Amino acid sequence: MLVLGIETSCDETSAAVVRDGRDVLSNVVTSQVEIHQRYRGVVPEIASREHTRAMLLVVEEGLRQASAELSDVDAIAVTAKPGLIGSLLVGLSAARTLALIRGVPLVEMNHLEAHVFSPALVAPLAYPLVGLVVSGGHTDIYLSASETEYECLGHSIDDAAGEAFDKVAAILGLPYPGGPSIEKAARGGDPDAVDFPKSYLGPGSLDFSFSGIKTAVLYHVRGRDGKGEIPPDLNVADVTASFQKAIVEVLVDKTVAAAEARGVRTVSVGGGVACNSVLRDAFERRGKAAGLDVRFPPREYCTDNAAMIAGLGYYYLNSHA
Ligand code: KG4
Ligand code: ZN
Repeated sequence: MLVLGIETSCDETSAAVVRDGRDVLSNVVTSQVEIHQRYRGVVPEIASREHTRAMLLVVEEGLRQASAELSDVDAIAVTAKPGLIGSLLVGLSAARTLALIRGVPLVEMNHLEAHVFSPALVAPLAYPLVGLVVSGGHTDIYLSASETEYECLGHSIDDAAGEAFDKVAAILGLPYPGGPSIEKAARGGDPDAVDFPKSYLGPGSLDFSFSGIKTAVLYHVRGRDGKGEIPPDLNVADVTASFQKAIVEVLVDKTVAAAEARGVRTVSVGGGVACNSVLRDAFERRGKAAGLDVRFPPREYCTDNAAMIAGLGYYYLNSHA
């Protein structure tokens, strides 16, 4: 079964063709990151307009790279939520129109479930599993009984992890998006140099809070009023390495605790922050120690992409059959 996937929830326009939920025949992604860079964040109005411009070109290219015609497509899967409404509407309108024209089924997908599913694009996942989604907009933990069943166990109550990376990069004058710049700046830094606060929100809580650590970095770098100049002798590598370590520790601790509390042996980690090597290494170490099989998608499936939407769409299509 060939599924055409369409993803436009934020600032990536993407189309993919996936066979039987796992063989990725194409995954075309155009990023608007350079356009939004000067605003240090995604501007919704600009994002919607860019999706409108790129949408059909990206679908055509997705089909071309898969050596497929629209008439070969058996079903269409599209991101319906969560996301920027103007951006989502572009993908939804395209998907609904194509499904109507072709007379094929359409499934409307939850983008966060697709991030949890994303490691399955390279090797099957064993269920039940605990899924951590770490992106610019979300930090969520799910318990998933199968490809089509997700229960949210915890979520960020303020800044998402990626948002904290982006805001701390802005405080330090590092380029947007902040995650990759902080990872780069932290190389060679001492992760124990600064003891930034880690928020656990009480025993047993699986919710996250990253706004406190962001403020702690601001005060550390720009003084108690948060308005001072960055000291010329500030060791940026030490500050970023310490910040990164604190975030990673909270993410790993809570995810491992969730898996242990639910007696689950598989953990899936997806979303843009899952590109981070320190996070990957920490999960590998802690996962091994706890007897968990921790699964990351390759980096191209960590950030937003339509392959994960088409892949998961296959399972929803078959569960409804
Ligand atoms: O999943 P994603 O592409 O888009 C959203 O749905 O938000 O995630 C983007 C987020 C940004 O906040 C970015 O700074 C972060 O992922 N990110 C990283 C890294 N690469 C991207 N965070 C930490 N380390 C990275 N290497
Ligand atoms: Zn995402």
